[in-house]
Amino acid sequence: MAPTVPSVKLNNGKEMPLVGFGLWKVNNDTCADQVYNAIKTGYRLFDGACDYGNEVESGQGVKRAIDEGLVKREDLFIVSKLWNSFHDKERVKPILKKQLADWGLEYFDLYIIHFPISLKYIDPSVRYPPGFFDENDKLSPGKASLEDTYHAMEECYEEGLMKSFGISNYVGALLLDVERYAKHLPQTLQIEHHPYLVQQDLVDLAKSRGIAVTAYSSFGPSSFLELKMQKAHDTPLLLEHETIKSIADKHSKTPAQVLLRWSTQRDIAVIPKSNNPERLAQNLDVCSFDLSKEDIETISGMDKDLRFNSPPNYGIDVPIYA
Ligand SMILES: NC(=O)c1ccc[n+]([C@@H]2O[C@H](COP(=O)([O-])OP(=O)(O)OC[C@H]3O[C@@H](n4cnc5c(N)ncnc54)[C@H](OP(=O)(O)O)[C@@H]3O)[C@@H](O)[C@H]2O)c1
Repeated sequence: MAPTVPSVKLNNGKEMPLVGFGLWKVNNDTCADQVYNAIKTGYRLFDGACDYGNEVESGQGVKRAIDEGLVKREDLFIVSKLWNSFHDKERVKPILKKQLADWGLEYFDLYIIHFPISLKYIDPSVRYPPGFFDENDKLSPGKASLEDTYHAMEECYEEGLMKSFGISNYVGALLLDVERYAKHLPQTLQIEHHPYLVQQDLVDLAKSRGIAVTAYSSFGPSSFLELKMQKAHDTPLLLEHETIKSIADKHSKTPAQVLLRWSTQRDIAVIPKSNNPERLAQNLDVCSFDLSKEDIETISGMDKDLRFNSPPNYGIDVPIYA
């Protein structure tokens, strides 16, 4: 039987599952099957994005599960994200509608501003997903302010194209600025969050405003090994760290489950990605045991303010966290 996954109540009354499946780096040829199998395993939240380049296949997996009667659309919580090249206010709704069509959906449960960076528009017929560079493989800034993009998101929200909307990779100053111009505060903030990058002040700030936090890259360096990022190779793996392993042994759980529980127990949602069926099942079962207060403090005490998912770490000269 699939483990029970609690929900977090968002500031607009909607409920978001605390555990979901992340779709970044899920290959196109296996994606539909992985989504379908994840639904079979009990996952209900899927965290996608234009940039992941697999929205069509993700939608195929969802459709198969719905067609076979495994779930209904309303049982699922589908997340997608607005890419940097579509921040101009007149570009937001058309690209959102294209993404919905790719998934085969009428609405997203959550649609997120992926990064607080505006890049030059690239027509989807030229290159999709666009990535960070323009048609001439140059990094070209866009003209949209974050406020303009935000208001365009609010319009789509009011129209019902997404049931909730969020921001991602925002720092405290940007979040405080949102408060100045928002008609509706965002429902969620998605950030890199693991024991090497705790960002407690940012988590506290979001929570104090009623904004739910979602952690990405919960295993720290592991995700970035796949990308051959030097910084990840130079960092001791959290999944093999003695501190995490000993806490895991104490609870008869795996290190991955401890890392995920460290977040969920603090009401921070997680969206791990796994290509492996056994790990897929394991990652969903991260709310059925409790860490002690000391375990949580010990894990939080591993903080090194060490960030992996920053554009300069990929050789992209956009130092948003400078
Ligand atoms: N908003 C943003 O800017 C942003 C940025 C990054 C990520 N995200 C979202 O967050 C999701 C998760 O983050 P992520 O993809 O960076 O990485 P992650 O889920 O932290 O880590 C994935 C890596 O951990 C391995 N893994 C997964 N479960 C495991 C387990 N139980 N035991 C051991 N190893 C395990 C995976 O390998 P296997 O596949 O082989 O199991 C993979 O190498 C993404 O898919 C995406 O949806 C958002």
